[in-house]
Amino acid sequence: MIVFDQVSKVYPTGNTVLENVSFHINPGEFVILTGPSGAGKTTVGRLLIRDLLPTSGSIKVGEWDLAKMKPGHVSELRRHVGVVFQDYKIIPDKTVFENIALALEIIGYPGKQIEDRVKHLLELVGIPDKKDLFPVQLSGGELQRAAIARAIVSEPKLLFADEPTGNLDDQTAADIYQLLLAIHNLGTTVIMCTHNRSFLDPGHRHINLEKGKITLDTSSSSQPARAAPLREGHKSKEEKHKKTKE
Ligand SMILES: Nc1ncnc2c1ncn2[C@@H]1O[C@H](COP(=O)(O)OP(=O)(O)OP(=O)(O)O)[C@@H](O)[C@H]1O
Ligand SMILES: [Mg+2]
Repeated sequence: MIVFDQVSKVYPTGNTVLENVSFHINPGEFVILTGPSGAGKTTVGRLLIRDLLPTSGSIKVGEWDLAKMKPGHVSELRRHVGVVFQDYKIIPDKTVFENIALALEIIGYPGKQIEDRVKHLLELVGIPDKKDLFPVQLSGGELQRAAIARAIVSEPKLLFADEPTGNLDDQTAADIYQLLLAIHNLGTTVIMCTHNRSFLDPGHRHINLEKGKITLDTSSSSQPARAAPLREGHKSKEEKHKKTKE
């Protein structure tokens, strides 16, 4: 589903954040991404939605080679990759309902369908009574739930949650983690960035980034990566026999 092949990222400031990083993530995985502050976790998320392009190397998400995809496909990519941003990126002058509904409005969903979907998501994330409140009227945990609902509104195959439990008390953090597990159980591939080591679970893959490199990847698989299509009925154009450099 995701292939990072020898990816390097040097910001215009000259800061080398990733250096020949390679990994692949298969559909259905739950991956915990750790690393000290500044290790490049958020950069990985921005690369995944083509908010940034790598300086070298290639990134494939589903059937898309991100460096080669047409600009018109970027919005489609972003519907398939939900992101819970580290700084929420919730629109302050829109209600919780409006924030979650926005992505569906943009793609022209009928009003009734939007209402049903948002209502369902608010139930799923546990804040059905907050729909008409503005972000400033929510607690940190509630805001995080709203951000998760917004990230999954268009039923992405992949969810990148960037420190979704930062600044939350232990219980609320554990509840948010459980929510991500529930979303994973519904069939979504999840990448969760965290500094909280209590979420490290031997049942989940753990990737650690440090000084531009992967210093730990508990995936035992060294099989060549094959990017599974994100869209139904669309054949992958990946070179299926290409070895991934580890
Ligand atoms: N737009 C930018 N321009 C220049 N340097 C940047 C930019 N964005 C991030 N960086 C630098 O890249 C490095 C990695 O940043 P990134 O946000 O990916 O780290 P992180 O692992 O998510 O850290 P944290 O755990 O603090 O969220 C940092 O040194 C940061 O200063
Ligand atoms: Mg970050």
